Amino acid sequence: MSLLDHDPIFPNRNRIILDEYKLTNDYLPTRLPHREQHLVETIDHLKPIFQGEENIVRTVIFNGPIGTGKTAVAKSIGKKLQDYVAKKRIPPIAYAYINSQSFTTKFQVLRKIGKDLGLNIPRRGFSTQEVTEYIVNFLDKNGYNLYLVIDETDVLLRRPEGNNILYTLLRLGEIFGPSRFGLALVVVFRNYTVSIEYMDKSILSSLNAHYVEFNPYTSRELEDILVSRIRNEKAIREDAVSDEIIKMIADAVGYDPATKRGYGDARMAIKILWFAARHAENEGRSHVLPEDVRYVINRGVLPTIYDPEFLEKLQLHEKLLLLAIARTLMLNRERAYVSMGVVKLEYEDLCENYGVKPLGHTSVWERIQRLRNLGLIETRVAKGRTRGRTTHILIPEQIGISKVPLNLLEKTLMRLIEKELASL
Ligand SMILES: Nc1ncnc2c1ncn2[C@@H]1O[C@H](COP(=O)(O)OP(=O)(O)OP(=O)(O)O)[C@@H](O)[C@H]1O
Ligand SMILES: [Mg+2]
Repeated sequence: MSLLDHDPIFPNRNRIILDEYKLTNDYLPTRLPHREQHLVETIDHLKPIFQGEENIVRTVIFNGPIGTGKTAVAKSIGKKLQDYVAKKRIPPIAYAYINSQSFTTKFQVLRKIGKDLGLNIPRRGFSTQEVTEYIVNFLDKNGYNLYLVIDETDVLLRRPEGNNILYTLLRLGEIFGPSRFGLALVVVFRNYTVSIEYMDKSILSSLNAHYVEFNPYTSRELEDILVSRIRNEKAIREDAVSDEIIKMIADAVGYDPATKRGYGDARMAIKILWFAARHAENEGRSHVLPEDVRYVINRGVLPTIYDPEFLEKLQLHEKLLLLAIARTLMLNRERAYVSMGVVKLEYEDLCENYGVKPLGHTSVWERIQRLRNLGLIETRVAKGRTRGRTTHILIPEQIGISKVPLNLLEKTLMRLIEKELASL
């Protein structure tokens, strides 16, 4: 115990959270309980490339719902490779990670790969063809193989340029003639069966991937994950959280294969633990109590797609539109769905208040589709009937938000929009 523990001005006797960062989504834990198999299976399939074999492409598809460890496993492999290369235990291999949510154009994606390889590619002045060639030559000249993770591929495929981007990435090795390096790919999906509907047949038929399924976590599995976050990662003081509390959180979130109920989302479980610990600290206690957990759960932990860190990645006008939808729904408390027309008026008001130019009709429409594809809103077409006959007149779409308390969403969005505008 250090002297600081007795500091009368900043008493931290009650400190429960030891390292807040280790509870955030950015943190890559050192261990991933119940995902060792996934890790081994993936490495096994990609092994030839990790061992230095050139002129070969291997692909592994990760598929599974929110918070099931897909990104964590893919990134852990990247980190392991870097450690092994540093210790010269395997031939040199470069590692690049693309989150499709954050990059819209092919140029941006290629530039991010370049950045991960330590190349400085200017924002302007080069074609995608030139950048691709630059990357390929760099790998070839230095004798590197490449481990490339394409995350959130569901989002990528719903973009206009999506198939084109994916095609380029999958064929990176052979675009300029016979492959000059080995390429190990992990392509991550939340819902592979739905998303391949958006995939060009030519890509699909050439994929030939090994498939690894990520199931939602059961409450037993979540217990181990939470305990590991406390004991191994030391995010939280061990004696501040009893087994009973761990069980309580795991049961609230865990998936039950028999009834097919429950989230099974590790991110959500960790977040409840984090916020419950914070609540206990704020109440001046040195232990987490069941009432802290109840408080956090009842107050409504945002489903993870509505996490600020995800919403932040939306484009400005998508944020504005989502806020307009939330506002319109709040103003029409008895309605579950509101019409596109009313939302558009609210959106234009918001734009005026924030001093930004509103988008035109077609662009607004595209953004609404994207919000729907991301699962943030639900839309439905009202059945048009005039005098008992179904018409083919275009009826404006109805929009709703069902998965999140609107006031929480509103607050988060306003904060993010103000932050974004301030940084422009
Ligand atoms: N087996 C595990 N052990 C420890 N932590 C885990 C495990 N699985 C997931 N996590 C943690 O849960 C959070 C969510 O995991 P991750 O980001 O890998 O989910 P995902 O499957 O990629 O979800 P999404 O589809 O939403 O991107 C992260 O903070 C991660 O560290
Ligand atoms: Mg992920």
